[in-house]
Amino acid sequence: TSGEQLVVPTRSSSNKVSILTLNRPKALNALSTPLFQALNAELEKAEADDEVRAIVITGGEKNFAAGADIKEMKDKEFAEAYTTNFLGSWSKIASIRKPIIGAVAGYALGGGCELAMMCDILVATPKATFGQPEITLGIIPGMGGSQRLTTLIGKVKAMDMVLTGRKIDGVTAEKWGLVSRLTGEGESVVEEAVKVAETIAGFGKVAVQAGKEAVNGSLDLPLEQGLRLERRLFQQLFATQDQKEGMAAFAEKRKPTWSDK
Ligand code: HXC
Repeated sequence: TSGEQLVVPTRSSSNKVSILTLNRPKALNALSTPLFQALNAELEKAEADDEVRAIVITGGEKNFAAGADIKEMKDKEFAEAYTTNFLGSWSKIASIRKPIIGAVAGYALGGGCELAMMCDILVATPKATFGQPEITLGIIPGMGGSQRLTTLIGKVKAMDMVLTGRKIDGVTAEKWGLVSRLTGEGESVVEEAVKVAETIAGFGKVAVQAGKEAVNGSLDLPLEQGLRLERRLFQQLFATQDQKEGMAAFAEKRKPTWSDK
C-alpha cells in the first residue's frame, strides 16, 4: 500500500512535474539507505520519462528530513562503511539533468540539509529549520555539507554551522543564500515549489538543460573554462528550432510554441 512506500511519487495536474515525497513521517523522514534507494529509483524514472520536465523533492508540509538515519549508522564500523560504499548512493541526484526543486518545511538537518542543497532551486517556509548538527553526534557532514554549504553561504557562516551545530530558520537561510524563495502566509511549500517547476516546464527542454549545465559548470570549473562552457552551450542553442521560434515569436509579438528541438 502507499502508506508503506518510503518515497511517494505523484504528478502535478499538467503531468509535467514529478513530485517525490519522502514518507517516513514517524522518523521525521530520517534518510535510511532503503529510503535513499527508493528516491534514486524514482529519480531515474522521472529522468527517463519524456513527459516529466522538472522534479520536486519534498517531505511534505511538516518536515523535510531530520538527517541520515542515526539508528542505522550508530553501530557502523569502518570496514563495512568503506566496502559497501556507505552514502555512495547519495551521489545519484547530482547526475540528474532535469531541474530539481526542493520544497522544505520543518526540519532539514544533517543529511536533510545536504539533500536540500543538492536540489537546483530551494523553496522553504520562513519557519523551516536548517542545520548541520553532526558535530553533536561526534561526526561531521558527509554528503556535501562542508562543501556545498560553504559555496552557498561563505566560509565563516559555514564554519559556524558545522562547528557549533547552530540551526537557522528559513528567513535566515534565504538571507544567507541557502534558499531562493520563501512561502508567504498560508501558502503551501509544495504548491509553491510545483509552481516554480511548472514555470520551468513551460520552456524548451534543450535550453533548460543547457542552463542547468552551465550554472553547475561554475561550481566545478575555473572561470575561464566555465565561460568557455557557457559560450559553447550558448552558441549551440543557435542550432535549435526553439531559438528560432523563441526569437521569431518575440518579433511577431506572439507566444512561442516550443518543439524541444
Ligand atoms: C533516526 C530520527 C532522526 C534521525 C529523528 N528521528 N531524527 N531517527 N535518525 N536523524 C526519530 C526520533 O528518534 C523519534 O523516533 C522520531 O524521529 C521523532 O523525533 P523526536 O526526537 O522525538 O522529535 P522532536 O523532539 O520533535 O525533535 C526533533 C529533532 C530531533 C530536533 C529534529 O529528532 C533531532 O535532533 N534529530 C536528530 C537530528 C540530527 O542530528 N540529524 C543529523 C543526523 S547525522 P522515536 O522512535 O523515538 O519516536 C547526519 C549525517 C549526515 O545526517 C552524513 C551524511 C549523510
